[in-house]
Amino acid sequence: MRTEDPRPIALKDYSEPDFWIDEVHLDVDLAPETAQVRSTLAVRPNASRPGKDSLRLDGEGLELLEVHLNGEKLGPNRYQEDESGLTIMEVPAGAFTLTTVSRCNPAANTALTGLYLAGGIFCTQCEAEGFRRITYMLDRPDVMAVYRTRITAEKALAPVLLANGNCVESGVLEDGRHFAEWHDPYPKPSYLFALVAGDLGCVRDAFTTASGREVDLRIYVEPGNEDRCAYAMDALKRAMAWDEKVFGREYDLDIFMIVAVSAFNMGAMENKGLNIFNDKYILARPDTATDLDFANIEAIVAHEYFHNWTGNRITCRDWFQLCLKEGLTVFRDQEFTADMRSRAVKRIADVRMLRTHQFPEDGGPLAHPVRPDAYIEINNFYTATVYEKGAELVRMIYTLLGAEKFRKGMDLYFTRHDGRAATVEDFLEALSDGSGVDLSQFKRWYHQAGTPEVMASGKWDGAQQEYVLQLSQVCPPTPGQPHKEPLHIPIEIGLLGEDGADLPLSPIGGTAAASGAHVISLTKREQTFRFKNVTAKPVPSLLRGFTAPVKLSSNLGEREWAFLMAHDSDPFNRWEAAQKYASMILTGNIAALSNGKIPRAGTGFAGIVRKILNDPGLEPEFVAQMIVLPAEQTLAQAIGQDVDVEAIHSAREAFRASLAEQLYAEFERAYNENETPGTYSPDAEAAGKRSLRNTCLGYMAATGRADAIALAKNQFDTADNMTDSMAALGVLAHTDCPEREEALRAFHDRWKDDHLVMDKWFALQATSPLPGTLSRVRELMAHPAFSLRNPNKVRALIGSFATANQLRFHESGGEGYRFVAEQVLALDKINPQVAARLLGAFKSWRQFEPVRQAHMRETLERIVSQAELSRDVYEIATKTLG
Ligand code: PHE
Ligand code: ZN
Repeated sequence: MRTEDPRPIALKDYSEPDFWIDEVHLDVDLAPETAQVRSTLAVRPNASRPGKDSLRLDGEGLELLEVHLNGEKLGPNRYQEDESGLTIMEVPAGAFTLTTVSRCNPAANTALTGLYLAGGIFCTQCEAEGFRRITYMLDRPDVMAVYRTRITAEKALAPVLLANGNCVESGVLEDGRHFAEWHDPYPKPSYLFALVAGDLGCVRDAFTTASGREVDLRIYVEPGNEDRCAYAMDALKRAMAWDEKVFGREYDLDIFMIVAVSAFNMGAMENKGLNIFNDKYILARPDTATDLDFANIEAIVAHEYFHNWTGNRITCRDWFQLCLKEGLTVFRDQEFTADMRSRAVKRIADVRMLRTHQFPEDGGPLAHPVRPDAYIEINNFYTATVYEKGAELVRMIYTLLGAEKFRKGMDLYFTRHDGRAATVEDFLEALSDGSGVDLSQFKRWYHQAGTPEVMASGKWDGAQQEYVLQLSQVCPPTPGQPHKEPLHIPIEIGLLGEDGADLPLSPIGGTAAASGAHVISLTKREQTFRFKNVTAKPVPSLLRGFTAPVKLSSNLGEREWAFLMAHDSDPFNRWEAAQKYASMILTGNIAALSNGKIPRAGTGFAGIVRKILNDPGLEPEFVAQMIVLPAEQTLAQAIGQDVDVEAIHSAREAFRASLAEQLYAEFERAYNENETPGTYSPDAEAAGKRSLRNTCLGYMAATGRADAIALAKNQFDTADNMTDSMAALGVLAHTDCPEREEALRAFHDRWKDDHLVMDKWFALQATSPLPGTLSRVRELMAHPAFSLRNPNKVRALIGSFATANQLRFHESGGEGYRFVAEQVLALDKINPQVAARLLGAFKSWRQFEPVRQAHMRETLERIVSQAELSRDVYEIATKTLG
């Protein structure tokens, strides 16, 4: 809990450690309430920081029993313990071994960091600073050691004993106890350590690497869940093959293990050779998991596997470099998904995600650079900015270098830094040296926060037959950064002729691109680009593929957006045009609603939607993306200030209903044509059909017509897979109709013993726009399947209410805010990381109308005034208030 005014840690204060630790031998004796850890460290002074005679180790919440130096027991006058660690005085001048014996209590660990017992399984989570809750250590990523771990436990309690690396010995002991010893030959930082023990079922497979080595693959799950591992295993093998093919990276141990647990703070963790997953991202069967679940499993299994090279073999020097592994690994998993599924759809999904999560962060009080320069609690920096914007920065480098040079740069990065702890500078230098491309201005992206705004103004000069594009950039101030330098922004552009086809591009003073794709570099505050031989007035398609994470504004109007929505050959920009067009109509309608004017029906927009629905050449998932209106949160962002959530909700619902009335027959036809009969397959093509079909169902139901509701009810009753079942239930649960409660009850009764499916049931009710939602959420907290101790439950019920139900969270009396704040404070005593994350729901508070702003401010102030706050919640609350 809060020590007076927690002090920030700053990047500029980084220094190497006084000592290195080359080897760690752990002997862990497990029992639910006491885990005894004997740890022997091979310590060596750091030659570049000579003359240090005391060794300071991190340690938190440990009960210290013994200390030995070079095998000799030390008296209490030789060491000092405090709440954050242990100092050993008068250590020898050369190398020495240090043994500590200590205890911790896994059963009492509700923060889920360090060693904890949940659902009968002992499990560890060490990133970022959890290892110090297991034993004393230089718990920092630049200290890399070889680990040997011996686990002992009662066999009946924990028949399976796992740690990193290879199992080198195991055996039975007296009194029903047994042990296993694991050895990981690759030096690693302590945050990659893992240990798991418990009664687990196992699914096995194998992979042969490019150089012909056999790797034993295992997924461990709670017994009974073995039939839900096939998709994760398949994704793992595809990820291993893909990393060999695309990045030339092979797996390096003889065994790769995944463990799925039900209590986990994050999505998953890349511990060396022993990934630990939130079971939501492993377990899937057609009847229990949706298409989105399958896609997430594929992406996250790949993400954690890819960390073996980008994160583990090359790790981070310090936590400020977090994006070095996360941004890069997200980029890699995005590319993997793009290759496995549809590249266009994946890009749309990623940009959607960036805009809903990262843009508000970057434009609010919690804005920070992709590489932050200070933090109070590092756990608060596993953010959309570090991950998603971090990935966008790598993508821009990829765009600037091209595939081939990017690969050369990456190869150099791997050869130079393998086995080391690296920095963002190391990464940029390797990419630049390997490719010959100068990235010095580009580097600003890493330390400058905020979303840049790019203004584009294009003009056709008929006399010169030239197209002149003027671009300018500004980046708004962010906390601590009032002044911004211009960035290096790659912008892919195209020009469309009257018929909608791409015109050949002949830049003046540039090089023509081979494919018609053309990337220009905006590097100054203002810059003009000219294209010759443009014989008729074109429509520009700017920022194709979203080549930079910026907000683009231009002198294009509704007519041009409609044209681009109908014709752009770049699928991302075609979608973007649809969003822009819809957003123009919607923001107009929102204003109309507040002024008592009549909203537009959007017949022009509906006309293009009709063509798109009738175009057999388009993939169904892309069509679904094209016709989904911008989310309420997205519209709130577009409006930016004085946001009225009720007007947004009503205008959007009204426009949905209006489109549905205009296109009912088309939606119905697409619904019928996109059935996926036969055995369920989670592949992208079948999933795309279901997605389009369910989008159409949603539209039809938006009319409130009885036949549409009946259709949803029928789909719910007959669905043989979770995607269709959830989609239909979603329609019913969010509609004020008699079928609502009946369907929710039927779903509950069928799935009440399945914790992952129950999370869907919680989330669905928490996101309902109906007026009784908050009281329903309160009631559901008393449901036997709910627990504040389980992060997935908290996220499903309270998290979805706070972040995915704009209308009800922002209820005008402030009751939604007070409810969430109450839960944040209760959770802070149980799990500060999860509490702080939930508090993130308040980050955009300044964009709302004054009454709601006042309620949110008051709520935040009440949180800050609490006597005992974790560093996690303290940092988010104080920074949010600003
Ligand atoms: N490093 C994990 C990942 O992104 C995320 C994580 C962070 C998990 C901290 C647990 C704790 O793959
Ligand atoms: Zn990661």
